[in-house]
Amino acid sequence: MKELDLAIKTAKGAVDLINSKFSTNIGVKSQISRDIKTQADYETNDYIIKRLSKTGINIISEENFSQKFNLNDNQWIIDPIDGTFNLFRRFPINAVSISLWDQGIPILGVINSISTNDIYYACINGGAYKNNEKINVSSVNDISQAVLATGFPSGLNLSDKKINKFINNIKKYKKIRMLGSASMMLAYVANGSFDVYQEDDIFIWDVAAGLSIVSEAGGFYSIKNGSSEYKFRIKASNVLLKNK
Ligand code: IPD
Ligand code: CA
Repeated sequence: MKELDLAIKTAKGAVDLINSKFSTNIGVKSQISRDIKTQADYETNDYIIKRLSKTGINIISEENFSQKFNLNDNQWIIDPIDGTFNLFRRFPINAVSISLWDQGIPILGVINSISTNDIYYACINGGAYKNNEKINVSSVNDISQAVLATGFPSGLNLSDKKINKFINNIKKYKKIRMLGSASMMLAYVANGSFDVYQEDDIFIWDVAAGLSIVSEAGGFYSIKNGSSEYKFRIKASNVLLKNK
């Protein structure tokens, strides 16, 4: 599929740009509340948009999302850098995330780790891959043996009620991992390192590519409306844990 080739080439080029130009200083531009914006985010965004816009397909990106969003549209959904704070603090969990959606369904997804250069990708009905190897979700079927990957999205209201709900949920699992990059956590669900990913009120661009890859790796996901048009309540896992 030519769009998958383009997405892979674009993600690799974006990772090269970040590693060559921003390896010593990512250029912090603002630190508002729990969010951070950097020159690396903006330049990588421009790099990706320039390449994908040749397809004539609309592009929704974390760095420019002024238009009205409808999940059912045909559109690229991208996050130039997912895990910017990790990159800033040199914690090696961050990625370039590119996906194509149509009619509410992910057509393809590419997650290129910035720190390791591993590339995870999938195309509808084509399976999921890490580099050139096929990947599959885990076969853990008992939630008390499962690893949950989760996080607190930067804009989440951390009321006592929300925190209590969060704690009650995580108690069911054997292990909890919070890595600060939703795309990478989904990549780890797709390759079976983790069993479940769940986050409430996460932006679509943080998870769009990962949901494509989990689903092609044999997993399932649910996507429910969140507190704004770009935010969703997401759960993704192997199918054995779907209703647990
Ligand atoms: C962040 C990561 C993190 C999630 C935050 C996001 P960003 O993405 O995906 O896992 O919990 O809500 O903002 O801002 O580094 O692209
Ligand atoms: Ca981002």
